[in-house]
Amino acid sequence: MKLNVEMLKDSPKREDLWEQSRELMEHCIAEIRTLSHLLHPPMMDEAGLATAAQWYVEGFGERSGLKVSLYVDEDLPRLSDPVEMALFRVLQEALTNVYRHSEASKVEVELLHDAEQVTLQIEDDGCGIATELLDRFNRSGTGMGIGLSGMRERVSELGGTLMLKCDGKGLLVRVAVPDPAGTGWNENPSVSDEAEPVPGD
Ligand SMILES: Nc1ncnc2c1ncn2[C@@H]1O[C@H](COP(=O)(O)OP(=O)(O)OP(=O)(O)O)[C@@H](O)[C@H]1O
Ligand SMILES: [Mg+2]
Repeated sequence: MKLNVEMLKDSPKREDLWEQSRELMEHCIAEIRTLSHLLHPPMMDEAGLATAAQWYVEGFGERSGLKVSLYVDEDLPRLSDPVEMALFRVLQEALTNVYRHSEASKVEVELLHDAEQVTLQIEDDGCGIATELLDRFNRSGTGMGIGLSGMRERVSELGGTLMLKCDGKGLLVRVAVPDPAGTGWNENPSVSDEAEPVPGD
């Protein structure tokens, strides 16, 4: 766009450059909107994690070409903001990992809830991870990249657990976060994850 503007300074009558610049501008606006929504899904505050997960899974399926299914417990209640945001970030990182590393053709995502905890599972049918690496990570949290280590930290700050499992066919990422009240409202205002605000969002 900058290049076009430079050229337009010298040839302001070039209709093709004006048209191309308009298209570039529209593309930029659409990209920025998508990016800002990925940083903080606008429907998260109003409609909660289930709706945000639905939106993210659909968009991810379109962008990646992977078959992604999502099952959410019908009675999944609203959770505290930190828990909803942590689980959303886990979903984003786990699906990004599936796309980048697994060579999977499909992914199943489940969001379950019982009296004690909320569980998020992401299971792919790709190449999986070597057992020794998985055991080490499940035991000590070491040996992986920033993505999985950050996920583990984020979840443990909320008193939850992250477990990776691989039984020869793909990887299962399971995150369980306590919900002691059993109502879905796990007040924990000390932990928060607000994405940096995006100007104009
Ligand atoms: N679904 C998956 N299938 C196969 N391998 C995976 C999967 N998820 C993660 N891995 C392996 O685990 C490693 C660690 O993942 P992690 O997310 O911690 O780091 P990363 O994706 O390599 O980098 P980043 O820090 O940018 O997330 C990956 O490099 C990859 O080898
Ligand atoms: Mg990663």
